[in-house]
Amino acid sequence: IVKNQQGKPSFHLRPPHNWINDPNGPVYYKGFYHLFYQYNPKGAVFKKPIVWGHSVSRDLTNWIHLNNALVPTDPFDINSCYSGSTTILPGNKPVVLYTGLDANNQQVQNLAKPKNLSDPFLKEWIKYSGNPLMTPPKGVTPDNFRDPTTAWKGKDGNWRVAVGGLRGNLGVAILYRSKDFVHWILHDDPLYFGMNTGIWECPDFYPVSVNSRHGLDNSVNGKNIKYVLKASFQSHDYYAIGSYDSNKDKFVPESKGLTGSTSDWRYDYGKFYASKTFYDSVKKRRILWGWINESDSSSDDIKKGWAGIQSIPRQVYLSDAGRQLVQWPIEETEKLREKHVTYSNKKLKGKSLFEVTGITASQVDIQLSFNLPKIEEAEVFDPKWDDPQTLCSTKTASASGRAGPFGLLVMASQDLTEQTAVFFRVFKDNHKFIVLMCSDQSRSSLREGIDKTTYGAFIHMDHEDDMISLRSLVDHSVVESFGADGRACITARVYPHFHVKKEAHLYVFNNGSNDVVIKTLDAWNMKKTKGN
Ligand code: FRU
Repeated sequence: IVKNQQGKPSFHLRPPHNWINDPNGPVYYKGFYHLFYQYNPKGAVFKKPIVWGHSVSRDLTNWIHLNNALVPTDPFDINSCYSGSTTILPGNKPVVLYTGLDANNQQVQNLAKPKNLSDPFLKEWIKYSGNPLMTPPKGVTPDNFRDPTTAWKGKDGNWRVAVGGLRGNLGVAILYRSKDFVHWILHDDPLYFGMNTGIWECPDFYPVSVNSRHGLDNSVNGKNIKYVLKASFQSHDYYAIGSYDSNKDKFVPESKGLTGSTSDWRYDYGKFYASKTFYDSVKKRRILWGWINESDSSSDDIKKGWAGIQSIPRQVYLSDAGRQLVQWPIEETEKLREKHVTYSNKKLKGKSLFEVTGITASQVDIQLSFNLPKIEEAEVFDPKWDDPQTLCSTKTASASGRAGPFGLLVMASQDLTEQTAVFFRVFKDNHKFIVLMCSDQSRSSLREGIDKTTYGAFIHMDHEDDMISLRSLVDHSVVESFGADGRACITARVYPHFHVKKEAHLYVFNNGSNDVVIKTLDAWNMKKTKGN
């Protein structure tokens, strides 16, 4: 293989060639999960016209790549088929709302329906002849109106949909209502907005159960339900938790809104953008997909012939305290595990490391838990530290502390000149632990011209927590890490110089002065999935 091909994932979804970005219209239909995505059929760079690529799966891990589902054909989408969502209409009839770039490069919203509902592959789509259904409303410029959500039904039986946009200095989720899914009426006020955020792309709006991991259909509202609003802007996916006032058609956040500041919640504190959820009626769960872009150069991508991957699908649900979302790789991911290595109650002395051997370090699922220190032993948290990413960039893996840094060195060369460190540092703030989680890419590669930005997140621990867990899914150039059982997620892309398949190593390290105890460690080789 060409050296540059070595980063290609083995168990993450992407088609064999070319550029992809946003996940589009995920849905389950007649035995198959469908994922569409933004796709450039002609090359490994983002270039119009963009079409909807289409892959299907029975198990969300092995994929069949089908022909493109939506390609520019008509004046209402002749310059591209941009992002959109699927809604299942009564009678199990999926329909798609997507953004078209029309003949004037204006962004408009269009409807498409499957040609043949008895085809479980939903191969062919027919565009509604009355498209477009929505054109940029007053105050919204033609290039700032896109990415319709899955629609939901209100108590009055009418449909609602939100479209991302920019109105003046407000990022907005613009609301429309319809009786018949064809005639859409603009609601004066947006579902919600953010100030000075720039355009809101790919909004997502859905109910979550309180006290249950079960997902809910988008149209369910009632007792013991909260709502999540997500918007993509400034390269990140921000979300807020709150309620939905269905009379006023307004989202009411509980505390943090969507401001783009470091105090907002994010799905992922690394690379993860333009995500979208869907309700899986088979397993009664809500699943999140996100786009993970490259961090090598565009000319590298052209050489590789591909760019962009979809994340491992993540189940999302409300945390026990109800403050935030928790994300966890869907259970099907565990079916890919083959060779197993395990340790328990292993002491890791201060300033030491050990290698996890017996597995293929370039394709691994590793999960471990560390005992937290006594609260007195944790360093004091400085309230001035408001940006975890900056903190991780200064307090790197090589900066020794007391309780931490400890964690993993993934995609490491044997001599450790190349390594990606995913780790924790434990602080205390008023007798409660605050854990800093970092993914440090600064030494991930000896190659030049790669974005090696370090990422970070804060995890606020509960009083009863006496340990912290870390799980990383490593797949050649992708490292998706889940801290504290999925309370903080960080995704990174790495492109080491060494031969990834043959020479990758995996270590657990403790660079703090205190010893730490690894309560449990389990690591598995991951199988290559069909479609890769
Ligand atoms: C987000 C986005 C969307 C748009 C699509 C175009 O990454 O910019 O707003 O619909 O990508 O590919």
